[in-house]
Amino acid sequence: MRKTIIAGNWKMNKTAKETRATLTELRALADGIEGVEIVIGTPFTSLESAVETVKGSNIKIAAQNLYPKDSGAFTGEISPVMLKDLGVEYVILGHSERREYFNESNEFINSKVKAALAHGLTPILCIGEKLEDREAGRTAEVNEKQIREGLAGLTSEEAKKTVVAYEPIWAIGTGKTATPEMAEATHLEIREVLVDMFDREIAEEMTIQYGGSMNAKNAKDLMAQKDIDGGLVGGASLEASSFIEVIKAGL
Ligand code: G3P
Repeated sequence: MRKTIIAGNWKMNKTAKETRATLTELRALADGIEGVEIVIGTPFTSLESAVETVKGSNIKIAAQNLYPKDSGAFTGEISPVMLKDLGVEYVILGHSERREYFNESNEFINSKVKAALAHGLTPILCIGEKLEDREAGRTAEVNEKQIREGLAGLTSEEAKKTVVAYEPIWAIGTGKTATPEMAEATHLEIREVLVDMFDREIAEEMTIQYGGSMNAKNAKDLMAQKDIDGGLVGGASLEASSFIEVIKAGL
């Protein structure tokens, strides 16, 4: 019923030339795969090459940020209009690295989610707790606040077009993955918040990805969980040969 979406987040990695090489390889490996949506999030400087390289294939391209204005005096920023113009379809928003290093608030992230939707881009809203939150028993509370404030003011139609990525911060780039049971329990809590904000039918249609050291070895068990609908993959998405194994685990 809901879409399984496996997205690679390349973060600040790869030049345009390297992007072309990796996506040419991935395109060939992923040829004919149906049943999961494959997305790659590249740096802004690689978006154009990425879109051109995957044209006509089953791979979609994501940006990793946007500025929530159409145009104007915002030096160094990129608008949703510009992303759309390039042929970008998804945008990763509110990643924990942006929350931490660039002080992004839930309110600012919410304005980005709305700007993405207004321009026909699919937002992937990232949420997740820090290790100290989990240890203090605040996981549900922290995630609930990020979801409620991140998705505030969305209509039901907009919610249905939005993807949530649960990324426990302690599992990002650390090799420590949440166990499938632990991740499923949190995904279920997230879905219940979505039920409360929208309704059950809408919440059941929304894709909730898991992110945090997902790789070819653990992806199958994670995605076998009822409420885990794909992944947002960092390190293991950088090479086509490892990312294709994660994709196949979602079939
Ligand atoms: O957005 C993906 C991410 O933060 C997870 O990174 O390297 O732990 O898969 P990684």
